[in-house]
Amino acid sequence: MLTREQIQEILQPLRDPDTGKSLMELQRIRDIVVKENTVRLSVIYSSEEIRATLEAQIKELLEAMGATEIYIRMKPLDTGSAGTSQQEEPSDRDKLTKGHAAGMEGNSLLSEQSGVHFIAIASGKGGVGKSTVTVNLAAALARQGKRVGLIDADIYGFSVPDMMGMEEGPTVTEDGVIHPVERFGVKVMSMGFFIRENSPVIWRGPMLGKMLRQFFSDVAWGELDYMLLDLPPGTGDVALDVHQMIPQSKEIIVTTPHATAAFVAARAGAMALQTEHEILGVVENMAYYACSHCGEKDYVFGRGGGGKLAETLHTELLAQLPLGGPDNHPSEPDFSPSVYKPGTESGAIYDAIALRITDKLES
Ligand SMILES: Nc1ncnc2c1ncn2[C@@H]1O[C@H](COP(=O)(O)OP(=O)(O)OP(=O)(O)O)[C@@H](O)[C@H]1O
Ligand SMILES: [Mg+2]
Repeated sequence: MLTREQIQEILQPLRDPDTGKSLMELQRIRDIVVKENTVRLSVIYSSEEIRATLEAQIKELLEAMGATEIYIRMKPLDTGSAGTSQQEEPSDRDKLTKGHAAGMEGNSLLSEQSGVHFIAIASGKGGVGKSTVTVNLAAALARQGKRVGLIDADIYGFSVPDMMGMEEGPTVTEDGVIHPVERFGVKVMSMGFFIRENSPVIWRGPMLGKMLRQFFSDVAWGELDYMLLDLPPGTGDVALDVHQMIPQSKEIIVTTPHATAAFVAARAGAMALQTEHEILGVVENMAYYACSHCGEKDYVFGRGGGGKLAETLHTELLAQLPLGGPDNHPSEPDFSPSVYKPGTESGAIYDAIALRITDKLES
């Protein structure tokens, strides 16, 4: 069930093109009434030129939240608050999806001809380091001069903005185009940018795919060589959506060295194979702990899971990453909780993975 607060939150980023102020704060979006999945609201628009786009944007955002019936009353600014007896018009969903973001390069990103290499990072279970691998592989590819985009497709458990130490969100221009934020040379889009604070996200099934689609269609990615997707753990509907939406996507499977973890990860691999996604390889994360004094490796989480999984999936073991976070400090300008610097042990391993990937895909 939708709440008024959720609606306010999702519409918060919409801005008045003239002043740059939030339409919500200017009270140009008002009279929000929510009942089940039906949303009614009034919008006061400042000029005829932005009317259609604004209406479409709001509809799209509300639909993406799971609103099934949307009634928007559009009013010009001068007559703004007058008259409340006017008949509300039901939204025209077809017009919405077709009219919005027309002329953007977004969807061509998904076309086979775009030349963009899609790589989805998957795992069987949560907490094995998918997001860590995604952000670091993206940064390593960018270090090689590649143009890299990253979609945090973990719509419930988005973590990429925090992990990369991003403090700013994307900007949304009047035409409804979202401009991604760039960090470590990587253009990033995440649901986390649109959810304020750490409130739980309650999306319903169909909107997950919708939100993802919007990340492609409404975001000004520019020219890209690589697009990395951080998937939610497991083989749920989002993972399946991604498989179906981007049939040309390749995959990297992340696991820990434990045999059980690798066994569960094999399911994610099996899903990739069933949907005919090529598996580029397996990354074994938290493979060992290296003693800081003597360098001796201690295989605290067991041993061999990654290799075995690679064998099962007829692919290669791309890397084994040690335990240990990046060595950096919040006072540094390029601080990030999860991105390893080049030249560090883990940073160098990520550089090697990136090299192997570009070799595989570009030669
Ligand atoms: N090699 C590593 N050494 C130490 N900590 C790590 C390592 N890799 C990841 N972590 C930490 O483990 C936790 C889980 O990692 P991460 O969020 O990348 O996993 P995930 O698979 O994306 O999780 P989720 O399923 O919740 O999305 C994080 O706190 C991360 O910082
Ligand atoms: Mg994650």
